[in-house]
Amino acid sequence: MTYLGVDYYPEHWPKEMIDEDLQGIKELGANIVRIGEFAWHLMEPEEGQFDFSYFDHVLDKVKEQGLSVMFGTPTATFPAWLAHKEPSILSVDENGQTRVFGGRRQYCFNSDIYREYAGRITRKLVEHYSSEEAIISWQVDNEFGHEGSDMCYCDQCHSKFQQYLAEKYSSVEALNEKWGTIFWGQTYNDFSEIPAPKPTVTTHNPSLKLEWARFRSFSVNSFTHEMTEIVREAKGSHQDITTNVSGGFFDKWFDHAENVKPMDYVSYDNYPVWGGLEKPVPPEAIAMTHDFNRGLKDQNYWIVEELMGAQGHDVIGYLPRPDQAKMWSYQAFAHGCNNMLYFRWRGMTKGAEQFCYGVVDHDNVYGRKYKEVQSLFTDIQQYERVLESRIESEAAVLYDYDNIWSWRSQIQSKDFDFNEELLRMYRPFYKRNIPIDVIPADRDFSQYKVVVVPVMQMMDESLAERLRSFASGGGTVLFSFRTGLKGKDNNLRLGEVLPGLVRDLTGVRVEEIESLTKEHALELRGEGDFAQTSGTVSVWRDLLVAETAEVLYHYQDQFYEDYAAVTKNEVGKGSVYYIGGGLNEAPLDQMAEQILEERQIEYIDSPEDVEVYRREVDGTSYLFVMNHSPYVKSFDGRQLQPYASEIIKKS
Ligand code: GLA
Ligand code: ZN
Repeated sequence: MTYLGVDYYPEHWPKEMIDEDLQGIKELGANIVRIGEFAWHLMEPEEGQFDFSYFDHVLDKVKEQGLSVMFGTPTATFPAWLAHKEPSILSVDENGQTRVFGGRRQYCFNSDIYREYAGRITRKLVEHYSSEEAIISWQVDNEFGHEGSDMCYCDQCHSKFQQYLAEKYSSVEALNEKWGTIFWGQTYNDFSEIPAPKPTVTTHNPSLKLEWARFRSFSVNSFTHEMTEIVREAKGSHQDITTNVSGGFFDKWFDHAENVKPMDYVSYDNYPVWGGLEKPVPPEAIAMTHDFNRGLKDQNYWIVEELMGAQGHDVIGYLPRPDQAKMWSYQAFAHGCNNMLYFRWRGMTKGAEQFCYGVVDHDNVYGRKYKEVQSLFTDIQQYERVLESRIESEAAVLYDYDNIWSWRSQIQSKDFDFNEELLRMYRPFYKRNIPIDVIPADRDFSQYKVVVVPVMQMMDESLAERLRSFASGGGTVLFSFRTGLKGKDNNLRLGEVLPGLVRDLTGVRVEEIESLTKEHALELRGEGDFAQTSGTVSVWRDLLVAETAEVLYHYQDQFYEDYAAVTKNEVGKGSVYYIGGGLNEAPLDQMAEQILEERQIEYIDSPEDVEVYRREVDGTSYLFVMNHSPYVKSFDGRQLQPYASEIIKKS
């Protein structure tokens, strides 16, 4: 069964509208609603007084319509009485400012008091509905750590951070040694002297900043796992557990793969445009988010919030054009989403999200968006077996949260952005319409043909060794700049010539480096097959000396004409590319085609902004075709209207 539905907030409307709303939702073609994730006060209006009668009524109504339910545990929005009684649950920003009641998710993950209250409402709720047949899934909390809520500098967090370090390091001397606290005379005599990295003059020790990031991840994930365990103990056997991942996952302070480990499946909230954005994020950036979510548990996933209307709190922006939101839905299904709910049934008239538009607007008219969702639900239902099928990729892009946090602790180039550097290397393969897995670097990647390793400045022996055997066994590896610069303690290694642990693999050494800016792009000189392809680098450059590698591009500015910028090294049966700077698209496109041909990976040519995603089921191909542009495009002898999407069956 493919679950198709909407996020429904019955408590936002007069009780007598429930029948009408559920009727309208049913006629939309929906078979599921998500409810309850923000309704703690309704279930516990006063401390210890649990009352589920409102949702008992809603569930009776829902069952009359034969709809299923995903129920959210309401710990993202705690009641005012709790904040009033226990203000220590409130999180604190880096300037010591308490985040007051009135927003959401402003709880401290390290508050034992909050864990107690949150655990209790979660247990009471799930126990109450453990035998409720209509409830097929529990969503734990809502978008953990989103909107800056993964960071807190309160005293509880500070003392637990020191405890975390005392448990991790055998002694404060060991920590001093590892962190190099001899620098600026910062040697600690005791763990109780170690600060939380609040604002200071100049900047904090890189190892401290990395450990603080790891501690934030531990704080968010241990809270998540504690709540999830309570749900798992209390729930019925017919009920699954998930949580909804929010966008901006590489900008968060917690490891998402670790976060969703105890879940039965991942859910994602897909908003290609949000807030004051003038236009949606690029198609490849949206596609990457799907491949990331599929990669979290290496399985297909749900979308529990798919955008239909414009969204924003105090500021909104771009309005999705007719069929554009439907097209984004097809893109999601293509990349492994197997069940989808739209956010939200009707836009709220009161509260902070008056301008988060839904399927139905405040005028309660079933208009264009209603019909667009209805047509999507009608069309997609016939493809259940395709949506449930496994996506087998031959290419993977690796990421590592320690590496991401290492870059965030020192970005080195003012224009460095991890998301952009990962997309820079993901895009050329996306444009050739091949499936790509976006996975944690500690995951096994031996089964792929191509492994892309963007700006992996943090490298340990294990990763270097796995890449070495992958390449020598016939795989193709693509590294980009600053590879292998640091160890897992976020420090450089004395006497090491970069790229350090993978110098042999790349067949180059880094002789000098320079931080560039986006505007300051440097022209390169292409060699051999690349002589006619204009190349430039911006953001950063490694000045490379080829040791065994072939040079694909040289720099050509004064003093540096002899240095290599892009190289290719043959290793065993495989090859290793080193991209020494923020390279432009044309050379990367040519390189991707060269690699796909060398590795005999089939790819599909399509016009710009036309995405084609092939899914195979029992020897039949299903091509998901998405026109991401406002222009008519043609593909496979078809005219694609602006923002059109369809599935072409190819036996
Ligand atoms: C998020 C949240 C929802 C709502 C929407 C608004 O994804 O999960 O509660 O705030 O965004 O777009
Ligand atoms: Zn805190």
